Amino acid sequence: MKDKVTIHSLKKQKHAGQKICMVTAYDATFARILDEAGADVLLVGDSLGMVVQGNDSTLPVTVDQMIYHCRAVSRAAKRAHVVGDMPFMSYQTSIDEAVKNAGRLVAEGGAHSVKLEGGAEFSDVVRAIVRASIPVMGHIGLTPQSVHKMGGYVVQGRDEDTARRLLEDAVALQNAGCFAIVMEGVPLELAKQITARLDIPTIGIGAGKHCDGQVLVCYDLLGFNPNFKPKFVKRYADGHGLVKAAAEQFFSEVRDHSFPDEDHSFRSTTLRVIASNPDVVVSEREDKEKSGIYGVPV
Ligand code: KIV
Repeated sequence: MKDKVTIHSLKKQKHAGQKICMVTAYDATFARILDEAGADVLLVGDSLGMVVQGNDSTLPVTVDQMIYHCRAVSRAAKRAHVVGDMPFMSYQTSIDEAVKNAGRLVAEGGAHSVKLEGGAEFSDVVRAIVRASIPVMGHIGLTPQSVHKMGGYVVQGRDEDTARRLLEDAVALQNAGCFAIVMEGVPLELAKQITARLDIPTIGIGAGKHCDGQVLVCYDLLGFNPNFKPKFVKRYADGHGLVKAAAEQFFSEVRDHSFPDEDHSFRSTTLRVIASNPDVVVSEREDKEKSGIYGVPV
């Protein structure tokens, strides 16, 4: 579990039949826990526009925001490969813009690679980013940045024509230099065929069990939103219940004066109360009191 995950080790995992575990992360605390838990890939997804920012789509997310979150995640990840998502309109307008923005996610955000949504029509963009020595992960099928074109978040590739087009997209992205492809919201039979056809790993979300790996949004797998229950999400914890119960207990202890107790308070034997203002206290050992209360030297 110690060696760092790279685009090359991910390809080896495919060919050795070892499933790839990918999960989204948006901040350093979650990234550290998920990295320790054994994530192969941490995706700083533009899904943060919905689950962190509270928008109803990923469309408002900006490159600067992605860089901010990538930086937090890449600081905390010790082993996992960190992928930074290219947000809406950061690669669609021109190849130059695409390369520049991909470069910012890597240079400023510390991402190891970038991900972009779209098929064969983005082959030239993928080629240019790869030429700049930035690895690219593709993303086909249900592509949330195209929500208005798709007419909603709907499963793709259910008929022969669209399925064939998705297979062609996957092959085109591989030929353009993608090191892996996310397949989202496609029938498992199609995902199986595409996975067998490609030399690079496929990572599924709502694409069935035959993909080389799986990805979920961390808040979904942790059960933080009880109102979000799509078929493809399995909840591995009741995050919402856990956080709510802990917060309720904290509020209750504050209200009934039982927190903070002696164990969670500081004391000094050399304090004197300023006579004119009994609320203000001055410590003669102020330096000692200030040192290291977060467990790090100051
Ligand atoms: O933005 C994201 O989190 C994603 C995953 C759902 C694949 O693209």
